[in-house]
Amino acid sequence: MNTDDTRGLLEEIDVYIEELFEPSDEVLKAALRDSRRAGLPEINVSPNQGRLMQLLAETAGARRILEIGTLGGYSAIHLSRALPEEGTLISLEIDEHHAGVARKNVERAGLSGIVEVRVGDAHKLLAALIEAGEGPFDVIFIDADKESYPEYLDASLRLVRVGSLILGDNTIRGGTVLDPQEETARSTREFNRRVAEDPRLYGIVLPLIRERIDGLTIARVM
Ligand code: SAH
Ligand code: DHB
Ligand code: MG
Repeated sequence: MNTDDTRGLLEEIDVYIEELFEPSDEVLKAALRDSRRAGLPEINVSPNQGRLMQLLAETAGARRILEIGTLGGYSAIHLSRALPEEGTLISLEIDEHHAGVARKNVERAGLSGIVEVRVGDAHKLLAALIEAGEGPFDVIFIDADKESYPEYLDASLRLVRVGSLILGDNTIRGGTVLDPQEETARSTREFNRRVAEDPRLYGIVLPLIRERIDGLTIARVM
């Protein structure tokens, strides 16, 4: 089988799994539709990845979740569905327009009592969270500017407890992390290396299929 055939098959498998488990989730579909209409880039997690992360957060018994990079709130809806009624998801977003779209999508999903979108540069917002002692979070999902992943990992390690999960999106980047030629690939490779070498973490990089091959780094704080 050549590479193109393999890619076609991988996509078919992804669609098969998607249709098997999520034939029509109107709230999630509406979130994607309105995000597209508002001109947001279509770089949300896939339905299957959203489902996987919801499952991980549920399995972790999460009550407090932190997300870095909100976009239109698609992953935030998945993750916050794992939370109990009194749970909290704080999501950090630099772009006011993205945050506005996300708040509307979260509202329609009936999750505005649980999800709080904070607008600003995640570097500053993370420093403020640490300063204010707002941790620990049970799950942290890193999905903003890829160049900052190593710094976001450092900040995350100050906002977790033993047993927390740290997730990092886009950590395979179509395979570019194998031989990085640009800064985003270099930083995500560095992020993966730090996760692998940090004695406080036990993790894996899970390759995932979407339009292209990407990956989700999953690490548990030991
Ligand atoms: N988690 C979302 C996708 C996030 S896309 C989902 O799967 O549905 C990445 C987001 O990070 C974009 O909305 C972008 O505006 C935001 N972002 C980029 N740099 C940032 C920064 N320095 N601080 C906070 N958010 C940032
Ligand atoms: C990009 C960012 C993402 O978070 C993602 O999931 C896919 C692509 C990007 O910046 O290209
Ligand atoms: Mg992403």
